[in-house]
Amino acid sequence: MATAALERRAAPLAPIDVSRPELYAEDRWQEPFRQLRAQAPIQYVPDSAFGPYWSVSTYKPIVHIEALPKIFSSSWEYGGIAIPGIVDRPMDSEVRMPMFIAMDPPHHTAQRRTIAPSFGPSEVAAMKAEIQQRTAEVLDSLPIGETFDWVERVSIELTTGMLARLFDFPWEERHKLTYWSDMGGDVERMTTPEGHQSRNAAMTEMGEAFAALWAEKTAKPGKDLISVMLQSEAMSHMSPTEFIGNLILLIVGGNDTTRNSMSGFVFGLSQFPEERAKLEADPSLIPNAVQELIRWQTPLAHMRRTVLEDTEIEGVAMKKGDKVVMWYISANRDESVFKDADKVIVGRENARRHLSFGYGIHRCVGARVAELQLCTLLEEMGKRRLRATPVADPVRVPACFVHGYKQLMVQLSHY
Ligand code: HEM
Repeated sequence: MATAALERRAAPLAPIDVSRPELYAEDRWQEPFRQLRAQAPIQYVPDSAFGPYWSVSTYKPIVHIEALPKIFSSSWEYGGIAIPGIVDRPMDSEVRMPMFIAMDPPHHTAQRRTIAPSFGPSEVAAMKAEIQQRTAEVLDSLPIGETFDWVERVSIELTTGMLARLFDFPWEERHKLTYWSDMGGDVERMTTPEGHQSRNAAMTEMGEAFAALWAEKTAKPGKDLISVMLQSEAMSHMSPTEFIGNLILLIVGGNDTTRNSMSGFVFGLSQFPEERAKLEADPSLIPNAVQELIRWQTPLAHMRRTVLEDTEIEGVAMKKGDKVVMWYISANRDESVFKDADKVIVGRENARRHLSFGYGIHRCVGARVAELQLCTLLEEMGKRRLRATPVADPVRVPACFVHGYKQLMVQLSHY
């Protein structure tokens, strides 16, 4: 018996396909990743709905991969930044909008440099008053002691409002932003021709709306992000499709991620009531708690790269053309970096080391805006002594890319 157990332990771990959507829909991803981190942190999965891929599930090799963009490409030409990649299942009608998240240097460098200043510390600080006012309005509109969906009434409302203001998108049409970016972020849709088609239609509609906004801002610039970008020196070198592609990236990139952080905050704190009590008692913990909750939630479960030349990581050989999936969701639970990683600990000393924003040259350009919006939400709840308590299990997004909530029924109370 003992020998059999030993043999079992010594045998290599059979491939675990952690891309299966049910693992996320049913919140069962923790155990398979625990196994992978312990026994096969870099594992080849020969067969999945998205084809073969390498699964990288610990912290160190992910940082290593992100630091070598010349070997591990983000380019859309090879499939882009998620599974399924855009050229894994090419379609004649594919809408291709160049976006710098799916480019390598030097193109990535030039475009990011153009946009990044609009997300600098002083630019973001200038957004504070407006974000605060919006957050206050949304919180003050909520019923106390009645059941409602936090995702719909708070997470979607605040995130959409933030993006509409940022880009001076027509306010009454702001809910279109939610629809378009939901479609844009729904990469799983690309596994069927019908899904492809509906996603393409939404992306085309979005492109047209942004082209109109672009023309409007060129004629009459304001103080919004589009006007700032249009007036920048480097932007004049960008083609209209590149400009619109990047606008779409900013909207899609900021949407699900910030939204699911807001829902994750409420759910995560409700799972650790002692930590919630510490946060409620001491608002100075908010900035650190925001990082900790972004770590715990990991709103994007993975990013993907493609190997450009034969290489080796931690003794594992990878071939040119291989797909590599960096599971941030697992690296953020890597016990060698984060002690008691499954727990929310609002005062965690190294919460900021999380990989939820990625690492290296593609690290999230909108991180400061997201942090501002998320800190403001907790601050404004604190000022009102508001606590949201889930009253049912959340309904989760069945996807291995966007890691989040479709519905989170809660009740509000005062503490
Ligand atoms: C890139 C996560 C909010 C815009 C990224 C990446 C991740 C990420 C993982 C890719 C990093 C990589 O490939 O190494 C998040 C999370 C957010 C958030 C978790 C919220 C909690 C935002 C917001 C915006 C935004 C609010 C804009 C308004 C972008 C852009 C990129 C990016 C433009 C591409 C950067 C590049 O390729 O250089 N984000 N994001 N994100 N994000 Fe975010």
